[in-house]
Amino acid sequence: DWNMGSFADQAIGKIQQQVGNKRVLCALSGGIDSSVAAVLVHRAIGDQLTCVFVNHGFLRKEEPEQVVKTFRDGFHMNLVYADAVARFMARIEGITDPEQKRKIIGEEFIRVFEAEAAKLGDMDFLVQGTLYPDVIESGTATAAVIKSHHNVGGLPEDMKFELVEPLRDLFKDEVRALARELNLPEDIVWRQPFPGPGLAIRIIGEVTAERLEILREADSIVYQEIKIAGLYRKVWQSFAVLPAMKSVGVMGDERTYAYTIGLRIVESEDGMTADWVRLPYEVLDNISRRIVNEVKGVNRVVYDITSKPPATIEWE
Ligand code: XMP
Repeated sequence: DWNMGSFADQAIGKIQQQVGNKRVLCALSGGIDSSVAAVLVHRAIGDQLTCVFVNHGFLRKEEPEQVVKTFRDGFHMNLVYADAVARFMARIEGITDPEQKRKIIGEEFIRVFEAEAAKLGDMDFLVQGTLYPDVIESGTATAAVIKSHHNVGGLPEDMKFELVEPLRDLFKDEVRALARELNLPEDIVWRQPFPGPGLAIRIIGEVTAERLEILREADSIVYQEIKIAGLYRKVWQSFAVLPAMKSVGVMGDERTYAYTIGLRIVESEDGMTADWVRLPYEVLDNISRRIVNEVKGVNRVVYDITSKPPATIEWE
């Protein structure tokens, strides 16, 4: 795409002008926006950029490994991998209220990020993957409330940085085109939206290590089967949820008492409204069979057939 090629060249020039020979920090999540922003800045200023990737333990299967592989091994960026899994688990224990989960994860994220930034010494700039819709949205009070509610990757306000926001003029589809231009892996280019608090708000009720393990495996099967069916790019989001609920089942001669997995597969333009996808029965059947056969601790799979509104996309 020549258009995005020239955009990239211009953006790189602007970043070089803004930053000069100073140091730049970036919170990398592995989502498309922060990834594209980081790669652009890296192209512009190379080793003056350091990215911090916080693993809070609520990521999808193999996600942390993929981020490290892509950015450290592939793009040769300075990448700090902060393994904060134990810290987050200790803080989330016993918490069942969704807003409480978001608050705790958001606060802990900031603490971990600040601690890593402090180790790196003086930084002058901070990269943000702000898009054009975010710029307009933050104009209204309601939008600000919605944003602060959702923005778990939000960073401390008292951190004194000048912002580098190379994506401020772009819409999502343009960011995707730019991502391809910059040779980001397909997996990142087409990644579906994923909430900052991650799997912690897809376990309805208390988050435990066992439940995380079960949900991660089930979610991975949903991902694989939706991809095989050729639907991954067509739907807005497709994922598994784990309500803290067990039901009775039977396996061989044995009675089982195990978790239920809910499937949430929706189409949407912008996440504000959504409809459940009329998935082919065979796809549903494949997903269901694979989950109950392959994921220990699950004996039942249900499909969420509510639109938004009145339901939300996530269950918490
Ligand atoms: P809901 O569940 O409100 O979700 O219909 C709308 C969109 O927002 C995402 N979402 C979040 N994103 N932090 C985020 O970064 C959050 O706490 C959060 N909660 C929901 C959700 O995945 C969907 O795309």
